Amino acid sequence: MTEFNPYILYTNTVETIQPDEQEISRKIVDSMARVNQLMYEKYRHAIRDAHAKSHGILKGELQIYDNLPSHLAQGLFSSAKTYPIIVRFSTAQGSIVPDKMSAFRGMAIKIIGVEGTKLLPELSDALTQDFLLVNYPVIPTGTIKEYLKMQEGLESQANSGELFQKVAQKAAVGVQNVLAAVGLADSTNELSAPGPHILGDTYFSMAALRFGDYVAKINIQPLSENVKELAGKKIDHEIIDQDENAFLTKIIKDFFKNQTASYEMSAQLCTDLEIMPVEDGSVQWPEDKSPYQPVARITFRPQETFSPERRVYGDDVLSFNPFHCLPAHRPLGNIMRVRKLAYETSSRYRHHMNAQPRIEPKSIEELPD
Ligand code: HEM
Repeated sequence: MTEFNPYILYTNTVETIQPDEQEISRKIVDSMARVNQLMYEKYRHAIRDAHAKSHGILKGELQIYDNLPSHLAQGLFSSAKTYPIIVRFSTAQGSIVPDKMSAFRGMAIKIIGVEGTKLLPELSDALTQDFLLVNYPVIPTGTIKEYLKMQEGLESQANSGELFQKVAQKAAVGVQNVLAAVGLADSTNELSAPGPHILGDTYFSMAALRFGDYVAKINIQPLSENVKELAGKKIDHEIIDQDENAFLTKIIKDFFKNQTASYEMSAQLCTDLEIMPVEDGSVQWPEDKSPYQPVARITFRPQETFSPERRVYGDDVLSFNPFHCLPAHRPLGNIMRVRKLAYETSSRYRHHMNAQPRIEPKSIEELPD
């Protein structure tokens, strides 16, 4: 007898292609590419179109919980297994700006040793699977139409130096009051609020993805006490003043000199496509309708998080892409679909201009110490 559960089943009718989707998506990607070429000329080094600045490249492990109920034992999470992972912490701008400029933070995860054919044809044989998260539950520009408006505003300012930086920052983060609401910005002086400790944040997929038979958003939150206590905790002014450009790098580095930390990964399964839409990533799915349910634990042991070799490997060699996944975790909705071309375009340009190979690691040993 099959057990009743309230979760929406994944079928290809969960997604709806939007009017003019291809054209709008093309405009977004072309605009991002043009801005990225300007950034290349500025730095004479190619960087990511978004999340250009990394703050730590970490080695860790992802332990899928044993005995998950069948609605959670899906896709990658269908069997209790421990995988090595590489995690890249970043901030959202597509340029290299001082850490003091508040912005959303990214946590990109590459899981190593994942068997099975992957979604992107060129990476179908890779033994990796990526998840990309940001420290906010929704993407404020939750549809490609909204995203295009933001991107066009960003491009129109892209040549104007300091002003560009301000716009870039705003664009990357959505709206200033969103940041202020989560303590990442100060509404009176938006560019001087560096936000709370980066290791205390909770990170979200923001938009939906397939979760095997179901549809979900995922998140990762602090689990061990030493990172739980950093949630919302202001960074020491002394540390900020010592180096306004790189204090995020420093606090991660200092923390992992001698500490171990764990985080928990959870899935929020869709129970109602009306109130938990897939085609608008700006809508927060109510947790009273469907809570985040734990599926795995992430552990980081003491390590050097930002050696020169690691930075180059994480920034220039690796790429993280939400579509580099098992078909069971395919990203869903128009704001996700546009990412397919956006990440491929950005990554290809970066690897070409920096003359770097694009490598999917077969083993965690490939991550330099
Ligand atoms: C929906 C929620 C989104 C999340 C959670 C997210 C998260 C991230 C993260 C964590 C990174 C850094 C990856 C790394 O460390 O290599 C990243 C990079 C990037 N994001 Fe997003 N992002 C989102 C939406 C978008 C959208 C809508 C676009 C554009 C249409 C976009 C374009 C990019 C690009 C081009 C990169 C750089 C890719 C590369 O050069 O390797 N993202 N994103």
